[in-house]
Amino acid sequence: MNNYEIIDGKQIASQIKQEIAAEVVKLLDAGQRVPHLVAVIVGEDGASLSYVASKEKQSKEVGFFSSVYRLSEAVSEKELLQTIDFLNSDPEVDGFIVQLPLPKHIDEQKIINAIKPSKDIDGFNPSNVGRMMLGLPTYVPATPLGIKTLLERANVDTKGKHCVVLGRSNIVGTPVSILMSRNEDHANCTVTLCHSKTENIKDICLQADILIVAIGKPAFVTADMVKEGAVVVDVGIHRISDSSEKGYKIVGDVDFEHVKDKCSKITPVPGGVGPMTIASLLFNTFKAYRKDIYKD
Ligand code: GUN
Repeated sequence: MNNYEIIDGKQIASQIKQEIAAEVVKLLDAGQRVPHLVAVIVGEDGASLSYVASKEKQSKEVGFFSSVYRLSEAVSEKELLQTIDFLNSDPEVDGFIVQLPLPKHIDEQKIINAIKPSKDIDGFNPSNVGRMMLGLPTYVPATPLGIKTLLERANVDTKGKHCVVLGRSNIVGTPVSILMSRNEDHANCTVTLCHSKTENIKDICLQADILIVAIGKPAFVTADMVKEGAVVVDVGIHRISDSSEKGYKIVGDVDFEHVKDKCSKITPVPGGVGPMTIASLLFNTFKAYRKDIYKD
């Protein structure tokens, strides 16, 4: 199949951000305060710094109030918990995220547990994860929500299709597998979740009508693993050194150049799932501001 269609995440994310920005204009016209999103970052991890910078920039672009709490790599777990308590009780903060991963001396789950569910716009707190499992209103984690929105806006037919997910992380693979199996529009898939211990992964991928790849290995999915006409969603982002002027290129978990001709639709890297993640976080921030889920 040579007529593959690129699912343009950059363009769809920009559309979503315009929709949010239009809502912010309405608030300003009505003399109301705008949503306030806070990102907490611990240490100097390059990828995390770059994600948080993008979150701050794009929050401002849609008209939100945005703050970043930058804490030293050496911050204690107790001090980080105190910061979370402070944000939990600040009525001017609608939602916040603690950028992961955290330094090894901090218990990540303990930190996530401390985030008040009504402000947990990442949807990582066990209360929100449980709500998602049950199909109750919640903050759907940003990357899975971004993937679902991409499939929806690219008019991908999902009902009754076999969706194969590669990777079982708490942030992407596990939640997206649950969302795609739901009895609702733009879902209703039969889902297979593959991981590092899966046997015959190639055979399973070859059965996928929709293949969502979040396995964290550059170019893991090759053309011989993809069924003719499949829809492929690539969640990976890897910086690979090369001889270009920049000295590197960004690639995904899918060998795009060889896989694309097998697909009916495929997301590029960069410009596919990546931009959707931040757009979805902004969407969740607006839900927090409007108290759509938690009324307190
Ligand atoms: N690290 C990688 N992805 C994410 C995310 O979606 N949220 C947070 N808080 N940290 C991350």
